[in-house]
Amino acid sequence: MKTIKQADIKNKRILLRCDFNVEIKNGKIVDDFRIRKALPTIKYLLENNNQIVIISHLDRPKPKRSFLFGDRKHSLKPVAKRLSELLQTRVEFINDFNGFFAKRKLKKFVPKRIFFLENIRFYQGEEKNDEKFAQMLAELGDVYVNDAFGASHREHASIVSLPKLKPSFAGLLFEEEIVNLSPLIKNPQRPLVLVLGGAKAKTKIPLIGELLKLVDHILIGGKIANIILAGKGYSVGKFIMDPQIKEAISEINLTSPKVHLPVDGVVSLKEIDKEYIHIAAMGKIRREEECFDIGPETVGIFSEILKEAKTVVWNGPLGLVEEKEFQEGSKRIAQAIIRDGSKSIIGGGDTIKFLDEQKWLDYFDFVSTGGGAMLEYLAYKTLPGIEALNK
Ligand code: 3PG
Repeated sequence: MKTIKQADIKNKRILLRCDFNVEIKNGKIVDDFRIRKALPTIKYLLENNNQIVIISHLDRPKPKRSFLFGDRKHSLKPVAKRLSELLQTRVEFINDFNGFFAKRKLKKFVPKRIFFLENIRFYQGEEKNDEKFAQMLAELGDVYVNDAFGASHREHASIVSLPKLKPSFAGLLFEEEIVNLSPLIKNPQRPLVLVLGGAKAKTKIPLIGELLKLVDHILIGGKIANIILAGKGYSVGKFIMDPQIKEAISEINLTSPKVHLPVDGVVSLKEIDKEYIHIAAMGKIRREEECFDIGPETVGIFSEILKEAKTVVWNGPLGLVEEKEFQEGSKRIAQAIIRDGSKSIIGGGDTIKFLDEQKWLDYFDFVSTGGGAMLEYLAYKTLPGIEALNK
């Protein structure tokens, strides 16, 4: 994997894939961490007189429909604006790169100019990894740079097909991620403990089998813990199970001494009722209820394991931390990690946002911009986006 510094790229039209999948509320960016992390690469490319065409996705819009009907909720326009503020330079937003005028503009080289394309997932070809679509993008630049570590686990056109069509390099953020994460797969300080929570069950649960080959313990909380327990037949409320997840759950061995699931939880009704909150043993949760945080007994068990850890990787909050009432478990686990002084690595938008709100982010050794991508890298020791750069 060659980086932009090793390649010494100058006076080129750069296709720069970033992961600007950030939370936007009422047109305002809630957390610009991922945008700030991309600045070194952008600045480096500008200093070397390149023109930059930024490509990113935002969330998971319905492709064609979003594009035709102008889906403002999924527009990257606020991100382009924020980037322009951070760089203190003009960033030109392109609504449809395939339009006649835009095409002409993008093809002309002007050093230090920055274009920002609208959400690439508005186009069907992106998620379908369509080669013709990749070809259309390829015409907009001379060189491809991947700085979207957080999206490099997706076999999408701008991640895997586009780099095959151009000289391709890793950006500085991508390099930073690999420098910090690769020691974990090569020679981690043990015991290595993975704390796994959050939602995105479809991405995370199928990785557990592979992750168990790497880690010494895996502590599971959040919605994915409920789904695993439900899949194993425990009474933890009602969940609609995707067949793919069901199969992945059937392969998890709950009797493995490495696997730790909550034994108790903070429970409310499915439609949260703040008057109706209590602690319940897992397996004793009614169909109309749901567990929204790990309980005190689980916190105790998890903390004991963390005490012995030499390295901790954390992805995904252990409860519904958007609600104050369900933050306790994640707070206690964060404190245990910070207190025990092990090497600590965190990743995933919700975990970062939560720890940032507590003003605890600085206590962690490395904050990855990847959530699912970080886990997949640890599980498979590579990513489709890395393989595409190494073609
Ligand atoms: C992320 O936020 O984890 C990445 O941007 C990938 O997003 P996705 O899960 O929608 O592919």
